[in-house]
Amino acid sequence: MNDIEGLAREVECYITPEWAVDAILDVELMTDNILDPCCGTGVLARVAMDHGYRFILSIDKYDWGYGDGNMDFLDDPYEVDEDKNRTPLTVLMNPPFSKATQFVEKAFAIGARKIICFQRFAWWESEKRTEFWRQYPPNRIYVCAARATCWRVDLTPEQINKMGNTTTAHAWFVWEKGHPPGPLVSRLSKKKGQTDG
Ligand SMILES: C[S@@+](CC[C@H](N)C(=O)[O-])C[C@H]1O[C@@H](n2cnc3c(N)ncnc32)[C@H](O)[C@@H]1O
Repeated sequence: MNDIEGLAREVECYITPEWAVDAILDVELMTDNILDPCCGTGVLARVAMDHGYRFILSIDKYDWGYGDGNMDFLDDPYEVDEDKNRTPLTVLMNPPFSKATQFVEKAFAIGARKIICFQRFAWWESEKRTEFWRQYPPNRIYVCAARATCWRVDLTPEQINKMGNTTTAHAWFVWEKGHPPGPLVSRLSKKKGQTDG
């Protein structure tokens, strides 16, 4: 195992497929003050820009070639912008599975108005996270109707070609302040315009 592979495995650097980001942004609006706290190679910000969003801060604990590396969202103090004229914050993210609940808690702690979080659907099933789901019921959940395969960042196209698709189901979990807790569950299609959002 080389160093990059070791780090990618350790910090769970798996890349969100662009179609899944495109599909969620077709149905969910964001404020124009967006934070991706674990940006990896920046797919969330790039697709958000394609959707017309301009003010996106992308950080990560490691430098995967995009945004500001070396910022630990969970441990470093995060400066909240106290400018009252600023648009409320949206946190758009795909955090590591093992720390995803902590990322949501931190997003709430810094005052996010809206949180849009990509995760394995198994996150929602998890018995050991029962208390978290009780405390933070999402407003909406969108299950990816096509398998949203997230490849580890160090894999080459040749390696990916040999592997085939994953059988793991993924979903977007959305929290939005001021909305009654749902959750409403919908499906996101890979085919443009065929989402039941
Ligand atoms: C599942 S990957 C997602 C990457 C990218 N956002 C995407 O959607 O393709 C998780 C990312 O979280 C980063 N990460 C892990 N722990 C972190 C922390 N404490 N603070 C900030 N980023 C972290 C990893 O370096 C990795 O880039």
